[in-house]
Amino acid sequence: MTYKTLISFALKASEFAYAPYSNFAVGAALLCKDGTVYTGCNVENASFGAGICAERVALCKAVSEGKREFSVLAVAAQSETYCTPCGLCRQMFWEFSKELLVLCGKKDGEFVTYSLQELLPHAFGQEDFTAHKGENCRTD
Ligand code: THU
Repeated sequence: MTYKTLISFALKASEFAYAPYSNFAVGAALLCKDGTVYTGCNVENASFGAGICAERVALCKAVSEGKREFSVLAVAAQSETYCTPCGLCRQMFWEFSKELLVLCGKKDGEFVTYSLQELLPHAFGQEDFTAHKGENCRTD
């Protein structure tokens, strides 16, 4: 799986975006460590806060099918500028893959790359929580 192909999967997924309020179509493609790929698009709602980003759709699809280890996330919007994940999505991915590589694309298929650690410095994670709760925090 090349990075270029993963971005093309994200752009393809953006075609399914339900974004009548923002008119900003986003797609994501998540490469799992076992080589499988899950895609997602943003799904908005008349109650704006109920909408969800493309990246979290892809993540929840993957986790709900038993995947917890991810290597590369591609996100791309039908826009002229590179689309980077929002803060909430960065935090959600931090839970599962601290070494994640993030490809941020735009509509022409060009992309820039960041590590999740670059995108979310000084993150709060399950280690901090476990330290607070002692041995009572289950992670399985
Ligand atoms: N959006 C995503 O799906 N992913 C991003 O990385 C940025 C923002 C969505 C959320 C909302 O539906 C629309 O784009 C405008 O913010």
